[in-house]
Amino acid sequence: MTTTIIDGKAFAAKVRGQVAGYVAGLKERGIIPGLAVVLVGEDPASQVYVRNKGKQTVEVGMNSYEHKLPVDTSEADLLALIARLNADPAVHGILVQLPLPGHMNADLVINAIDPAKDVDGFHISNVGLLGTGQKAMVPCTPLGCLMMLRDHLGSLSGLNAVVVGRSNIVGKPMAQLLLGDSCTVTIAHSRTKDLPEVCRRADILVAAVGRPEMVTGAFVKPGATVIDVGINRIERDGKMKLVGDVHFESAAAVAGAITPVPGGVGPMTIACLLANTVTACHRANGLPEPQGLTA
Ligand code: GUN
Repeated sequence: MTTTIIDGKAFAAKVRGQVAGYVAGLKERGIIPGLAVVLVGEDPASQVYVRNKGKQTVEVGMNSYEHKLPVDTSEADLLALIARLNADPAVHGILVQLPLPGHMNADLVINAIDPAKDVDGFHISNVGLLGTGQKAMVPCTPLGCLMMLRDHLGSLSGLNAVVVGRSNIVGKPMAQLLLGDSCTVTIAHSRTKDLPEVCRRADILVAAVGRPEMVTGAFVKPGATVIDVGINRIERDGKMKLVGDVHFESAAAVAGAITPVPGGVGPMTIACLLANTVTACHRANGLPEPQGLTA
């Protein structure tokens, strides 16, 4: 049996192309979608993310508004900026880069964003809308995983899905999305008994635990589709290397299809952020939902 390597880099480029098409359509109506990204402090990884987001936003034809605030910014000043962005009709999406400095309450800050502009899908209203099967803004990484699964498998209806990891950003929303596509869903985590055995029941196995190469071939049902959300920087043979939560070689030997790290889920996250911004812009203007870019 040959294993399909799901090319997230190529798929993300296709999604960006679709986004650019919708942006061109909006421009014909005199509307330019705008994404505001707020970064507090100088965390190096966050600076790289924010730079990439800004670059790709402009590449698809949208306006990018970057707000870089010093690390000692008060929570009140950040909330005042969010209030201004909420009220600004040129801004359709707002993303506050996490983690925030320790003196800020991230839940309070995220919940101050207008839910209609919450392109991260982290606002409590969007979490509730997703959980009740209503039209929501959906977190970018799980949305990217869902798009790749639908593209590879077609209908997901009736399939057994196991999500390893229960974070608010990936595990829980991923499970909700798979349930929305009529999978039978199990959320497993570090305390799950007989984890390999639970995972071997999965037609779809999503690994989002943040533990390098924890999910080996022994966790994979023959022919299963394996989605690796992990991005772990480890040292091997004296060199720094990026690996996922899945042990690629052993899992790929058993799986029917698998996403690599790098080049799998990672590139899809920003592509879905751009997709969410176009979706938010369409909704703000009473236009139909963009096809293929939403859950
Ligand atoms: N930091 C790392 N990933 C993310 C993300 O998806 N959204 C936000 N807001 N911050 C992050």
